[in-house]
Amino acid sequence: MTIAIVAAMPQELAALLGAMQPGQVQRLAGREFHLGTLAGRQVVLALSGIGKVAAAATTALLCERFAVRALLFTGVAGGLAPIVRVGDAVVATSLLQHDLDASPIFPRWEVPGSGRSRFDADASMAALLAAAVSEVHGAPHRGLIVSGDRFVSSAAESARLQAELPDALAVDMESAAVAQVCADFGRPLAVLRTISDRADDQAYVDFPRFLADVAAPLTMRIVTAALPRL
Ligand code: ADE
Repeated sequence: MTIAIVAAMPQELAALLGAMQPGQVQRLAGREFHLGTLAGRQVVLALSGIGKVAAAATTALLCERFAVRALLFTGVAGGLAPIVRVGDAVVATSLLQHDLDASPIFPRWEVPGSGRSRFDADASMAALLAAAVSEVHGAPHRGLIVSGDRFVSSAAESARLQAELPDALAVDMESAAVAQVCADFGRPLAVLRTISDRADDQAYVDFPRFLADVAAPLTMRIVTAALPRL
């Protein structure tokens, strides 16, 4: 049974594709799904695209068309909690959409109809992933990752998110949407994010540099170490 590895940015997917024994490529909805073998596992690699809608659509296709048994989402994120520094790794325990607000009809952040604002990552996959991160890179932070359709690039917005969601470790633009769709399909999910910036006024400078120089090769090493155990 296939494991899906979804990356948010082409640089990261390129590193993983280079390491994979390639099989078929399927094109659907403007996306490429690369089937093959990586670290002895049958995998399908896909680029999620940026933002919650793109990530949700990619996830639904993986669950429905490729019958994946589990998903691993990897990418970069902005650090929110003060202890989360550039270069750190974060493994999600739960995920929340920070820009979802149907109040006063539903509580703020709640996904209408689900009764939940937080979606859990799969605990055993997260533990195996965290163990692989510890071996390759050093112990990851583990906790809440929040997602929204905004690149957070000001100290003011970062401070607001930290005040509203004090246990949030990091912010990205996809993971919580992937978690919601995985919950719909009953598929386990693990999320690994490397911190590319501090979601502040420097974020737009730090982000591209980090992505190419650090995140892509690091993600490759972590994913290949984690895969045989998943
Ligand atoms: N991904 C990486 N850095 C980010 C940021 N500052 N905001 C949202 N998503 C990100």
